[in-house]
Amino acid sequence: MKRAATVADAVAMAEVHVASWRAAYKGILPDNLLDGLSIESRRQMWRSCMEEKKCRCFVWLIDGEVAAFAAIGPARDDDLRDSNALELYAIHFRPGWCGLGLGTIFWQEIEKEIEGNTVVLWVLEQNARARRFYGKNGFTLEEDKKKLFAWQGMGFPEVRYRKRVQRAVATSAGRQLFR
Ligand SMILES: CC(C)(COP(=O)(O)OP(=O)(O)OC[C@H]1O[C@@H](n2cnc3c(N)ncnc32)[C@H](O)[C@@H]1OP(=O)(O)O)[C@@H](O)C(=O)NCCC(=O)NCCS
Repeated sequence: MKRAATVADAVAMAEVHVASWRAAYKGILPDNLLDGLSIESRRQMWRSCMEEKKCRCFVWLIDGEVAAFAAIGPARDDDLRDSNALELYAIHFRPGWCGLGLGTIFWQEIEKEIEGNTVVLWVLEQNARARRFYGKNGFTLEEDKKKLFAWQGMGFPEVRYRKRVQRAVATSAGRQLFR
């Protein structure tokens, strides 16, 4: 089941985040980058993001344990700065819970929170599973939006996807959630 995350979840989110990067990005990002990931720095990142209300986070619980998390906030790209667009900053399942269809269920629950809004996300070009997931869930690749995830002088291509989440009921969500 999904529920809103609180700062008390930050450590579990950080654990999921690091485990997910190590599993999903092996062979895409360098081993020494993945080996050097720090749960503590991710914990601080998610904690301050929530405390400062820069993002809204959600967790997916299985048997009471955090099996996944997602984070959403205002879109950060220059071309969207004056819009109401949102950005999916992260969505990660613990490696053992990937590929079971749970991501789609989690995302459908998150969509209920952001009905009527445009949402974008950046994904590593080589992250084929995630790209398939976004395509299946109605995101469209923006052909002209590419950037590099930079690390130690290297660059790893990322591509942007976009979706207008259908509105089931009237809502005034969007950036107002973060003001
Ligand atoms: C990306 C991610 C969130 C997607 O979640 P997921 O649960 O793996 O994705 P899906 O919901 O699409 O399910 C995947 C597979 O489960 C299969 N499946 C198995 N049982 C199923 C069921 N009962 N119902 C639906 N699908 C089921 C689907 O067929 C699907 O396979 P397909 O992609 O070949 O069609 C997850 O894989 C993940 O955390 N990956 C690592 C982190 C990552 O890359 N994050 C994105 C960063 S931008």
